[in-house]
Amino acid sequence: MNFKEVFQNEHVTRKFTNRKVPEKAIAEIVEQAQQSPSLLNSQPWRAYVLMGDALAEFKKAAIENSDNKVKPNEDFASMLSLDWDTFPSSNMATMGASQSFFFRNKLNLFTEANKNMFNAPAIIFLTIPRKSPAWSVFDLGIFAQSIMLLAVNRGLGIMPAHSMVSYPDLVRKYAGIPEDEYVGMAIAVGYIDKNAEINDPVFIPKRVPFNKIYKVSN
Ligand SMILES: Cc1cc2nc3c(=O)[nH]c(=O)nc-3n(C[C@H](O)[C@H](O)[C@H](O)COP(=O)(O)O)c2cc1C
Repeated sequence: MNFKEVFQNEHVTRKFTNRKVPEKAIAEIVEQAQQSPSLLNSQPWRAYVLMGDALAEFKKAAIENSDNKVKPNEDFASMLSLDWDTFPSSNMATMGASQSFFFRNKLNLFTEANKNMFNAPAIIFLTIPRKSPAWSVFDLGIFAQSIMLLAVNRGLGIMPAHSMVSYPDLVRKYAGIPEDEYVGMAIAVGYIDKNAEINDPVFIPKRVPFNKIYKVSN
């Protein structure tokens, strides 16, 4: 794909087909993403992949937690404020993903997709050390974006979702992540189920007008 196409195709997939993604492809994507820039080349990121039986066991445990109403306990929540300023919160309220789902009375599709981890054949969990400056969160975001663009370039669908890191202790247990690492984010990869209602492009939320986010002075 040319770059423009890759970039335009970078929208999330909330239902994957059952087709497996070869582990080699995921390893190549993550290896290429290592080229991402980071503060002083600190490369604070690590990637842990769950697929096959390990993923099935993790999912089962996470769904059990969710059914038992265990409170989500994201690692980043203890590191970062969860308060939003007016600008992002109004974007979320008026243009965010939830609006599309609320207005179409499809919130159950969204909730189910999240609970079922999007039927993903593989999930890449991204961590940084517990002892990290905010810069490392920024670096992790860049690393994540590289992974997603590289995956899209290979014809894969991508799904970054904090819902998959609601129970970081479970992620640590099933993915073999040491205690001294924060499970920051998760990116599911797989093949897009083009027939699934939840993947209908009608759910792609619009972006705010450019002039709201851009200002030049010269
Ligand atoms: C950090 C981050 C966390 C996200 N968490 C979730 C999530 O938990 N569940 C979900 O369905 N989508 C999640 N998303 C996807 C966003 O809702 C989606 O990217 C956004 O609405 C824009 O849609 P698009 O990527 O299809 O253009 C997340 C995206 C990011 C970058």
